[in-house]
Amino acid sequence: MRTKYSFRALLAAALLLLAGPALAEGEVLPYPFKADPDNIASVQRGARNFMNYCSGCHSMRNLRYNRIGSDLGISDELLKAKLMFTTDKVSDHIVSAMPEEAKAWFGKQPPDLTVETRYRGADWVYNYLLTFYVDPKRPLGTNNLVLPNASMPDVLWELQGLQVLKEGGGDEHAEGGHDEHEGPQFELATKGTMSPDEYRDFVADTTNFMVYAAEPGRAMRISVGIKVILFLLLFTVLAYLTKREFWKDVH
Ligand code: HEC
Repeated sequence: MRTKYSFRALLAAALLLLAGPALAEGEVLPYPFKADPDNIASVQRGARNFMNYCSGCHSMRNLRYNRIGSDLGISDELLKAKLMFTTDKVSDHIVSAMPEEAKAWFGKQPPDLTVETRYRGADWVYNYLLTFYVDPKRPLGTNNLVLPNASMPDVLWELQGLQVLKEGGGDEHAEGGHDEHEGPQFELATKGTMSPDEYRDFVADTTNFMVYAAEPGRAMRISVGIKVILFLLLFTVLAYLTKREFWKDVH
């Protein structure tokens, strides 16, 4: 009996570990998203977005600039000119210039984002970047739908514009042609420099880059995996033919 109980306890603990952070019960992310870290052009654009709009506050300590360069086909010169703002050594890790005081400014230290998409899920990050909205009750004047009371400023508002949460949200549809992509809850109060479609692409690229950053060896792993499986298949055929050859005179 005792073993049975401890097995159950182990199982429960394992399930808890697997569950990870979750949205509140019944909550669904408003914008479906499927990450595509194999789309190199998108990941390259995402790297540019991240370095320009995020790396001022967020680091990616487990990643080096020249790793991005070799994985994404970006030369050292281009890396230095376009993507590196805090150092000119391509072998450095991506560390933000944000000093310790950041915690006092924002109430929270901006977290390292190297493995963020594995922690929250790519679709969560995508939704996070799409769902900042105006909220006069918050110190910075904005809030976030998937991370309520987020202390991160709405850093992309100039691109996206400012959106407000509609009373009641839910199933009403705006008159505009875009509403089905827009998500039911939001209304754009101030236009940004990008159209809603352009902004969604911008966020998708940024998220794809973050998915790549969380596992830069992914492309290599897949290509090695395919080769290993092909080898095993070939080996099976050879082993079978050898076996037939060896046993053919036995009877
Ligand atoms: C001005 C500083 C600043 C900039 C620029 C910034 N962030 Fe943040 N970010 C923060 C702070 C502070 C938090 C902590 C929010 C909290 O937990 O309340 C945060 C939190 C996050 C989180 C949630 C972390 C978690 O799991 O709780 C993500 C994802 C994120 N930022 C992504 C980005 C991306 C992508 C960009 C660039 C487009 C960006 N941030 C730009 C300050 C910043």
